[in-house]
Amino acid sequence: MNRAAPAKINLSLRVLGRRTDGFHELETLMAPLALADEVSVEAADAFSFACSDPSLPADDSNLAVRAARLFCLRGRREASLALRLEKRVPHGAGLGGGSSDAAATLLLLNDFFQAGRTRAQLAEMAAELGSDVPFFIWESPAWCRGRGEIVEPTTLATDAEILLLKPPFAVPTPSAYAAWRDARELPGVPYGPQASPWGPLVNDLERPVFEKHLLLPAMKRWLLAQPECEAALMSGSGSTMWALLRVAADGAALAARARGEFGDQLWTCATRLSGRV
Ligand code: C5P
Repeated sequence: MNRAAPAKINLSLRVLGRRTDGFHELETLMAPLALADEVSVEAADAFSFACSDPSLPADDSNLAVRAARLFCLRGRREASLALRLEKRVPHGAGLGGGSSDAAATLLLLNDFFQAGRTRAQLAEMAAELGSDVPFFIWESPAWCRGRGEIVEPTTLATDAEILLLKPPFAVPTPSAYAAWRDARELPGVPYGPQASPWGPLVNDLERPVFEKHLLLPAMKRWLLAQPECEAALMSGSGSTMWALLRVAADGAALAARARGEFGDQLWTCATRLSGRV
């Protein structure tokens, strides 16, 4: 039995303030993408976990493993299963890969064991695993509030093409939030809301992350100057920048030009938003 674990982008991410528990109060519009990892499960004598990406931990620090253990613990079930994760979404990228793997594992095990938990119950479990995990339980674009765990599904026009560009470094999420309050805007870099079919596109984490990783604002400015690109924004806490392509624009040509400009180490992926499943 298997299940897709889609990546996400943030169409809008506003940080409203720092909370006393160390988290930040958010208001963010997130949308799942067609780009996805895949989680699969089979019955086995004992628990095992295998991942196609050897650079990821295969022990209990992997969020998919933690999700499987939590699901079995809550249902008082033996974790007698072989879990496998096929990675396609880069990590440390602001694309929610690890969170989505965890949510897909909960959804998959709910089916596998025919456990009959509702999405609301799974979302509650998901919130114990990370702020972004409940979003992926709903399998829909959504407004997320609180530290991210209060999810309000919404519908969006999904016929737009998106180009993802990730340089060969990761941004640790805690460092982006920690630098948010004192961060300044770099001169000449556009941070303001950009018009789009989904409302204004803006990301308050660009300020702290751009200050530290100067390639990212350079990529944003470069993207905005390309004829194929209607808007460009960082996703989550980075390091992925995403471009909203104009209707009938050649995404492959833009991706090739971006690799020419920023180096062959740049990971690119042409994808689309994915609507309610
Ligand atoms: O919830 P999650 O484990 O994904 O969060 C990772 C880290 O990101 C937190 O420990 C915190 O430093 C930061 N964070 C935050 N505010 C949020 C979400 C995450 O400060 N709303």
